Amino acid sequence: MKLGCCYYPEHWPEDIWAEDARRMSEMGLELVRIGEFAWSRMEPEPGVYEWEWLDRAIDTLGVAGLKIILGTPTATPPKWLVDQMPDMVAVDSNGNPRKFGSRRHYCFSHLPYRGECRRIITAMAERYGEHPAIAAWQTDNEYGCHETTLSYSRSAAAAFQLWLAAHYNDVDALNSAWGNVFWSMEYRSFDEIDPPNLTVTEPNPAHILDYRRFASDEVVSFNRLQADILREHSPGRDIIHNFMGFVTDFDHHDVGADCDIASWDSYPLGFLEQYWFGEADKLRYARQGHPDIAAFHHDLYRGCSNGRWAVMEQQPGPVNWARYNPAPLPGMVRLWALEAMAHGAEFCSFFRWRQAPFAQEQMHAGLLRPDSEDDQGGLEARQVSSDIAKIGPISETPKSVALLFSYEAAWLFETQPQGRDFRYIELVFEIYSALRKLGLDVNIIAPEASLSGYRMIVAPSLPILTDALVKRLVQSNVPVLIGPRSGSKTVNFAIPAELPPGPLQRAIPIKVTRVESLRPGLSKGENDEDISRWFEHVETALTPDIELDDGTAMVFRSKNVRYLAAWPGSDFLRDLLRKMAGDAKLDFVVLPQDIRIRTAGGNRYAFNYGRESISLSDIFSKAENFEFILGSNEIDSAGVSAWTASG
Ligand code: GAL
Repeated sequence: MKLGCCYYPEHWPEDIWAEDARRMSEMGLELVRIGEFAWSRMEPEPGVYEWEWLDRAIDTLGVAGLKIILGTPTATPPKWLVDQMPDMVAVDSNGNPRKFGSRRHYCFSHLPYRGECRRIITAMAERYGEHPAIAAWQTDNEYGCHETTLSYSRSAAAAFQLWLAAHYNDVDALNSAWGNVFWSMEYRSFDEIDPPNLTVTEPNPAHILDYRRFASDEVVSFNRLQADILREHSPGRDIIHNFMGFVTDFDHHDVGADCDIASWDSYPLGFLEQYWFGEADKLRYARQGHPDIAAFHHDLYRGCSNGRWAVMEQQPGPVNWARYNPAPLPGMVRLWALEAMAHGAEFCSFFRWRQAPFAQEQMHAGLLRPDSEDDQGGLEARQVSSDIAKIGPISETPKSVALLFSYEAAWLFETQPQGRDFRYIELVFEIYSALRKLGLDVNIIAPEASLSGYRMIVAPSLPILTDALVKRLVQSNVPVLIGPRSGSKTVNFAIPAELPPGPLQRAIPIKVTRVESLRPGLSKGENDEDISRWFEHVETALTPDIELDDGTAMVFRSKNVRYLAAWPGSDFLRDLLRKMAGDAKLDFVVLPQDIRIRTAGGNRYAFNYGRESISLSDIFSKAENFEFILGSNEIDSAGVSAWTASG
């Protein structure tokens, strides 16, 4: 794994660039990402390019031995461009334009804006495409950030109508697919159909789902436009996009298919603070991040681009954008970077080189303080670089448990959650976390991806199931778990005629006849902990595989496939996954709460996310004899140990 950082030469006087570059190299960094927000400096007036400063920046960094990831600047169109075409901005669901003055103020569907992107990217690619210091390109920056995937502009409305016409061909087919006879919602032609916003009460869920599919396709085609130009003018350079944490607004598998490397921006403390985690976890892990947040995304994005993935932005210290922004425990920046390595990252690049004393992110730490002294992040980056040298290259990552992840499932449950806390990403995360607490290595993959070589398969929920997938799951012949609400909808967002779980009934003869969502405190079953949020009544001649003490049936099984008919409590889930891992003959261990392990490249790694030191002997009986590459049997708080896997 290489190390790198994000650098903004346009933020600093030119006379410090060379010294910055020298210090990056001296810190052990080999990569530097630049350029992704610099449109106003590349083209200060319409059609007037000023490349000379960027030429000098690229040369200065290149001469210091750094390889460059050059960003296309399309996330920040300059003021003159927005003034030229004011309708290029995205429009929110309330109909308000998302104005100039920060970033991402564009609508993916605005065709003249796409033309402007094509122009600036072509100019950049022609100039730098074959520059020896340019190793890769980053397309745009964080698609979807600041809730920008969905736009309700006139351009989006027009593009949606074309998308619908291409998909349904005939408006009667659409009316019948969506069930528009309900509430007299029938259309006579595609050009009568608006985006699904500003309606009196909720729009037809089938309308929303198609809008989400359309919006995702718009991101995909916007990214492809960029990738095609870059491939043509910059042969041999990797095309990368930087995805975000817990964002499911567009299909990352589809965007990843057009990239050489899927990267993501890892801010474990900010994500813990901003997302659904309970107060106890937010406090316990305030300075470490939840032990599964970073790994979850590493394993998710590894599945988005044929296994090649990286961390484009790594949190280096306190950030500025979460509700509260504590500093990581000393050691955490190193731990996060080494954990990325253990999951197979090609590089880990810190955001950012130096804290900027001005504008929106002035309170966001860098590797250096604004006065250019090393900050804690910088000290730890040095340490990581020497650790990497000790570990050496990681050639393979293991294939053990496959977790099937569907972006469409997320859209579907957001559209009609039925219980306010039925959140797909949270269900997936809980199951992922339960697998990790057993020390299992997980690959998160698209439902269409190959299942070969995995020894256990888990699909937390796949509401739209196909016969083909059910067949593949049965044929995998390894233990398979399929979670609640699977097979509960058709592709057009209707209940299947045969009732849920739809085609899964061909593998397990069960029928879900009624579902319940449960408010917090409303229980089902004797042990309140076993089921919360969601419960399904199942009709079947099968004897349940698992029943609760009060006779509530939770899991049904036929051959290798199990169906879980509820949102499971954590102990229940742990026991179920343990049983399956046992059936799969996987080597598992029940880990202490704050420890996670990972096997890769012939080594085993242990990461301590706790505040106390922990002895590996409490987990592995032979730990005293391990051949350690990093650390030892005692892992300090925020510490990492690594040993050869044979031990
Ligand atoms: C990311 C973004 C960066 C910077 C960073 C701050 O989401 O890509 O440009 O804003 O967050 O944490």
